[in-house]
Amino acid sequence: MAAPTLVMASRNAGKIRELQEILKDTGITLLSLANFPELPETPEVGATFAENAAAKALEVAKATGYPALADDSGLVVEALGGAPGVYSARYAADVTAPRPPADADNWQKLLRELAAVRPEARGAHFVCELALAWPDGRLRRFRGECQGVIAREPRGEQGFGYDPVFWVPEYQATMAELGPEVKNRISHRARALAAFKAQLPALKDELA
Ligand code: IMP
Repeated sequence: MAAPTLVMASRNAGKIRELQEILKDTGITLLSLANFPELPETPEVGATFAENAAAKALEVAKATGYPALADDSGLVVEALGGAPGVYSARYAADVTAPRPPADADNWQKLLRELAAVRPEARGAHFVCELALAWPDGRLRRFRGECQGVIAREPRGEQGFGYDPVFWVPEYQATMAELGPEVKNRISHRARALAAFKAQLPALKDELA
């Protein structure tokens, strides 16, 4: 029997490395979109993280003939009715600008939107949805969340995206002040990957 093969529906080297690490003792061969350069990026047009992850995973599974894993993530701010949500990467987007917004544009807009919101109402969480799809359309979901509070001003130099303004009460620090060692234990992505990993023994036959 051939070794099970899984395709990560991403070209992001960091995400591929993370999954490679998780799969290293499982006998599963990991491919990624780097092995299928002709495949286009699936546009993220869904209303939820789960829809976006599922659409990406299904498209790649059908196109490659292998089970595929895809993720979608972002920041949910309670006082803003869930925004920026699935629009996290383009929250401060300006249709007239030649480039997508920089991380700092996005978190600066967030701080402006929350300027009048009191500390106890600044709760937020990061979400990561992972979807595992098979070429025949079967689908499994895994979700991770990380709770925090939107700070009044940025702190810290590490991480990316909204990390400088995401205060983690348990550590009394922003995500950008916590090193990768802590972040990779508590993050939404780490938790979704842990949920996937916990199911791997049960999934092994389906992945073969
Ligand atoms: P994607 O799932 O890689 O498309 O990420 C969507 C967007 O969500 C990113 O561009 C960031 O703005 C935000 N985001 C996702 N994960 C994180 C994180 O760990 N820290 C900070 N921002 C994040």
